[in-house]
Amino acid sequence: MSQIVQITDLHLVAGDGPLLLEHDTRAAFLKMRKYLMEHHADCERLIVTGDLVHDEREDVYQELFEALSPWHDRLRVIPGNHDTRAPMQKVFSSIIREDPESVSFLDELNGWTLIGLDTLIEGSVEGDLAGEQWGWLRSTVSACAGPVAIFMHHPPVFVGSQWIDQLSLASLGIFANLVEDFEQIKLVICGHVHQEFYTQIFHADVFTTPSTCVQFKPNSHDFAVDAIAPGFRTFNLKGDGSYETKVIRL
Ligand SMILES: [Fe+2]
Repeated sequence: MSQIVQITDLHLVAGDGPLLLEHDTRAAFLKMRKYLMEHHADCERLIVTGDLVHDEREDVYQELFEALSPWHDRLRVIPGNHDTRAPMQKVFSSIIREDPESVSFLDELNGWTLIGLDTLIEGSVEGDLAGEQWGWLRSTVSACAGPVAIFMHHPPVFVGSQWIDQLSLASLGIFANLVEDFEQIKLVICGHVHQEFYTQIFHADVFTTPSTCVQFKPNSHDFAVDAIAPGFRTFNLKGDGSYETKVIRL
């Protein structure tokens, strides 16, 4: 069994940066990091699914990379709508694919293929697959005999909150068609919505995960913050293609 820890929507700001909706995102991240050091230091992957920073500063990416140094050999990252591609490509060059148009990854773990997609449209809150990723995704998945887990910031599904469902993946239908074509796609793992959610696209299980800082209220017509504690998610991937997942809140 191989454990993945997913953290998402850190929204880190520089040390002198502002609070985010009255939340100190830096303090929340450091609390989460301490917990991970104590309980998940030996996880086999630490995957950060977007909105790593809030104010797009390269020095904050650098600081984050250094803060995650215990996991450098197991760290994977993809961008969210608050991120900027160029500084991510610079800071995380050692752990991402060589692709000028995306910050993405391809990895293997315990018989699973792990694919990290870049859904950042710079200047937009809504997302979609950047560059040549549609073709790359289809050819990569079609070459997989074993189970596949896809990581992407923007959920390719609606979560039931009208304000946020307008800001999800633009090409929901194209993504669903792709999933339908490939039984191997077992898991789709997302951030962006700052809440825990589960649904399915055909045979694939789709999960979203709480932010490490501010939470959004589920089933809200308009923007609303939830008082529930921040959290992260773990996945235990088994060699037979089954898995277990849980959300841990701090
Ligand atoms: Fe976010």
